[in-house]
Amino acid sequence: MKCHRLVDAGRRQFLRGGGVAAVGAAAAATVGAQAEAATPLARVAYPATRLANIADLAVNEPMDIAYPDAGSPGVLIKLGTAVPGGVGPDGDVVAYSVLCPHKGWQLQYNAADRTLNCPGHWSRFDCEAGGLQVFGHATQNLPQFTLRVDETGDIHADGADELIYGRLSNVL
Ligand code: FES
Repeated sequence: MKCHRLVDAGRRQFLRGGGVAAVGAAAAATVGAQAEAATPLARVAYPATRLANIADLAVNEPMDIAYPDAGSPGVLIKLGTAVPGGVGPDGDVVAYSVLCPHKGWQLQYNAADRTLNCPGHWSRFDCEAGGLQVFGHATQNLPQFTLRVDETGDIHADGADELIYGRLSNVL
């Protein structure tokens, strides 16, 4: 009989402790949610930059650009076929950084296979596949600039999907 009372007391103690733990966890979750809500999001505000007009582009002839600032060279290309991330009436206009993600050599466009190629250590990036690295030493795909075309045909850049070579943040 005494033994049963001890077991019963132990069970009550355990449940009381569990209740306290549950209340504690709920309070911690609430505090965590408040802390999360109070913490500003570390978002980078990209500049919106006009790069060119659709009428300025010829198929498979890259145009030199700079985005998000003058220290970040890139190319704007009308590929001739719709591709992921492509904009414009044909869904074929894309833009990329031309700084190789490996060591920053400047990439050169190969119109024959629509790739950007590095003269440094031969990395290659597919312009029809969002800058996918298809060969070489780089360990990152090529930064693709986010584009938007307005009602006049002007092409604007307003973001980048990978870190531009040599930077801790794309927007300095
Ligand atoms: Fe381009 Fe090394 S700098 S592969």
